[in-house]
Amino acid sequence: MHNDASKGSGLIRGRFGEGMSEVMEQINASIGFDRRMAMQDIDGSVAHVTMLCEQDIISQADATAIKDGLEVIRGEITSGTFTFSVELEDIHMNIESRLRDLIGPAAGRLHTARSRNDQVATSFRLWVRDANDRALALVHQLIEVLVEQAAQNTATIMPGYTHLQSAQPVSFGHHLMAYVEMFGRDHGRLLDARARMNESPLGAAALAGTSFAIDRDRTAELLGYARPMRNSLDAVSDRDFALEYLSAASLCMTHLSRLADEIVLWMSPQFSFIELSDAWTTGSSIMPQKRNPDAAELVRGKVGRVHGSLFGLLTVMKALPLTFSKDMQEDKERTFDGADTFELCLKAMIGMVGDMKARATEMRAAAGAAHATATDLADWLTRELGMPFREAHHITGRLVRLADEHGCSLDELSLEDMRQVDARITEDVFAVLGVEDSVTSRRSLGGTSPERVAEQVEEWRARLQQAPTTD
Ligand code: ARG
Repeated sequence: MHNDASKGSGLIRGRFGEGMSEVMEQINASIGFDRRMAMQDIDGSVAHVTMLCEQDIISQADATAIKDGLEVIRGEITSGTFTFSVELEDIHMNIESRLRDLIGPAAGRLHTARSRNDQVATSFRLWVRDANDRALALVHQLIEVLVEQAAQNTATIMPGYTHLQSAQPVSFGHHLMAYVEMFGRDHGRLLDARARMNESPLGAAALAGTSFAIDRDRTAELLGYARPMRNSLDAVSDRDFALEYLSAASLCMTHLSRLADEIVLWMSPQFSFIELSDAWTTGSSIMPQKRNPDAAELVRGKVGRVHGSLFGLLTVMKALPLTFSKDMQEDKERTFDGADTFELCLKAMIGMVGDMKARATEMRAAAGAAHATATDLADWLTRELGMPFREAHHITGRLVRLADEHGCSLDELSLEDMRQVDARITEDVFAVLGVEDSVTSRRSLGGTSPERVAEQVEEWRARLQQAPTTD
């Protein structure tokens, strides 16, 4: 079993007399997952061979045969007729071996002035750039649905919370716009990451560059990269692009989990702040009354997978000496799973936010409970009676206690009751005790008054018109 020299890739085992052990083959092979980069690998090879021909490193006839063969392989992989072989280790050698079946010895010229080290760095970087672009488009879409849901709810009043205790009434639109700000920053982080990852490692060869007169600017241009990477050692050993993508995805997942958690709370009968249609909920197998927000719970739960991908890859890269080590083959599964999970969660959240309906009556009732306008009362005492805020805070506390004793809300106290606590209070105080008054009065920049929220909505609508999804 150990001495079959045909085991392991015949393409590169010229000096080996014996084959690989089965476990060696199993631990070594990446074809089970890196086949996902097949299209990017073919793109990289087409660019490389185009440049080799332009530089007179290979002949026009060989270049044409190689490119035609690669396009045949692209078709076979796309249509599902390509046979992947574990013995050929990875996607790069699977494709090269098939190319040799198709066009004969000319296939061997494709790998001139190239190594699998710069090849895999190029293919994987292209794959991550595609994933980053898909994420940019999805985050953009999520911001759009949030802004439109906020536009419907600028004047819908809900309790604002600190410590999950009812704090001050706010606009539901304002609450949603807070998430728009978070996802706006996530979009910016993905754009930043894209600019940094958009450099070409191709031509770094194994690690030191090559003695062939290659044109790295040309392959960079053909692959849509802004420029070649400047240092060949860095080019083959850098995985920052995947780490940055996963970092941006991880932080965005944290934001998604916060919104997901609020959706779970708002959907509970105790809150009853929103409705989600059947499209985004499941029933219970035993309790027929239930409508479970499973999609929101799963978004909340899946954050762990994306964070795990980031930490997994950070740990793979930690303390790795320059340049390439096979450890780095562990970059792909982490990143693929992180990207799949991230994109699925973004799609689920886009669906839920678009679907959700605010239950304005229930929100308004909760906003009016628990003396949510106590701060407005303290502000009134400070502004109208000239009290230091600390004294106003104290008097308001006594009024809250009085209202509790009477089993009523602050605006249901009589003026006489209030004057027993402080004789300077006048009838005018009632104008600030209503929930609507409270929200409308918070007109400071970034505040919750419906007019301010409507302004934020308009600003974001304008930004969304201009925002590039890539660049
Ligand atoms: N399958 C490898 C990877 O994913 C390709 C690079 C192999 N390079 C090497 N020197 N063995 O990283």
